[in-house]
Amino acid sequence: MTSDAGVVVIGGGQAAFSAVSTLRASGYDGPVTVFAAEPHLPYQRPPLSKKAHTDPDGVRVQLAPESFYRERDIALRLGEDVVALDTAARTVVTASGARLPYAHLVLATGARNRPLPVPGAELDGVHALRSLDDALAIGRALTTAREVVVVGGGFIGLELAQVARARGARVTVVELADRLLSRAVSPQLQEQLRERHERSGVRVLTGTAVHAIEGTDRVRQVVTDRGTLPAGLVVYGIGAVPRDELARDAGLAVDDGVVVDEWLRSVSDPRISAVGDCARHPHPHAEGLVRLESVQNATDQGASVGRRIAGTSTPYGSLPWFWSDQGDIKLQIVGLRSPSDEVLLVPGDSPERLAAHAFRDGRLVAVETLNWPAEHLAARRLLERRTPVHVDDLAGTTLGALARARRAAEVRT
Ligand code: APR
Repeated sequence: MTSDAGVVVIGGGQAAFSAVSTLRASGYDGPVTVFAAEPHLPYQRPPLSKKAHTDPDGVRVQLAPESFYRERDIALRLGEDVVALDTAARTVVTASGARLPYAHLVLATGARNRPLPVPGAELDGVHALRSLDDALAIGRALTTAREVVVVGGGFIGLELAQVARARGARVTVVELADRLLSRAVSPQLQEQLRERHERSGVRVLTGTAVHAIEGTDRVRQVVTDRGTLPAGLVVYGIGAVPRDELARDAGLAVDDGVVVDEWLRSVSDPRISAVGDCARHPHPHAEGLVRLESVQNATDQGASVGRRIAGTSTPYGSLPWFWSDQGDIKLQIVGLRSPSDEVLLVPGDSPERLAAHAFRDGRLVAVETLNWPAEHLAARRLLERRTPVHVDDLAGTTLGALARARRAAEVRT
């Protein structure tokens, strides 16, 4: 018999959705309650930065209709903020003072955008992107803005730069680091990305700091250490920080994310799990603990905890992968590269296709591709099976060809 207190999930994103849908699919029959601060049904965020959204009814990002939750007896408490955890009483406390007990608590609280630390960041016409409402505000602003300044040349900045280009705006990306996407991709690919963005008409200023955003009632210009840029719209994406304050205030171990074990249980309290952007966890593909911001990670970790609570589970260890669509540029990443890995650039059979293969101690650990989904998928298959791929195996060939040759050899034996 399942405990009456059931499962409480805090968060309304991909990780929360995955946890509750897997709980029910795995046969869990106790009470399930989801608290989500936003008023919307759980939705996908990746599409928000891939095009300009102007029509609230036209944004089809919902993960499931309301009936999905009703049919599975999942209580959705939308627009309700959990403000405290009482871990001794195993209860969550909401902003209105309501309390709900749990047998298991799942923190799927995600991350928040790092605020832009300059004067004028609060002016009208300055936006960050995380929520559906942010995406609609940016989409509306793009219908009139002719000059767009994008602060931050990471995933969000580069995707939005191409969205703004597609709307015909003049776009400048201002990046503080010396390279674009310095957190996520190898230096070899960063150069290629820059060239491709510049070719599409985006102006790229790297190694450039924003000092202020100026305007009277709304934004007019951005002051940088390389001059002043006119701007009718400023969007910024300068990284995210985990929403781990509920855990920290409750005395759970937190270190840039809620620290969990290989089963994704808080190391301080096994009745509490953390999944997705807010979790810092061990991973078989990494040394030490990692915190990963990706849909794959959110979905697979949510599912892993759902299965565990329902009674069937293995430690978490899904192969990490990421993607980013930046106009015509399709960036895909699989595996976890570290800065000391050796990187080999491999050209595809057409000029837009390119791969960067990362090796550690001579063995393939990660692959980044531009406009080459087949090579990405081959890399995923090879890395998932953990069959070693050595630098020499790839002399004069691609992972796609190597995977095919290995499959043919398996069939013969
Ligand atoms: N001015 C300009 N650039 C800055 C500044 C600053 N003050 N501070 C940081 N940056 C740059 C970083 O050097 C980096 O290139 O902003 C970029 C941030 O890139 P990401 O870390 O990829 O973060 P972001 O693009 O904001 O995306 C946040 O949302 O959709 C998810 O997967 C995405 O996890 C990512 C998250």
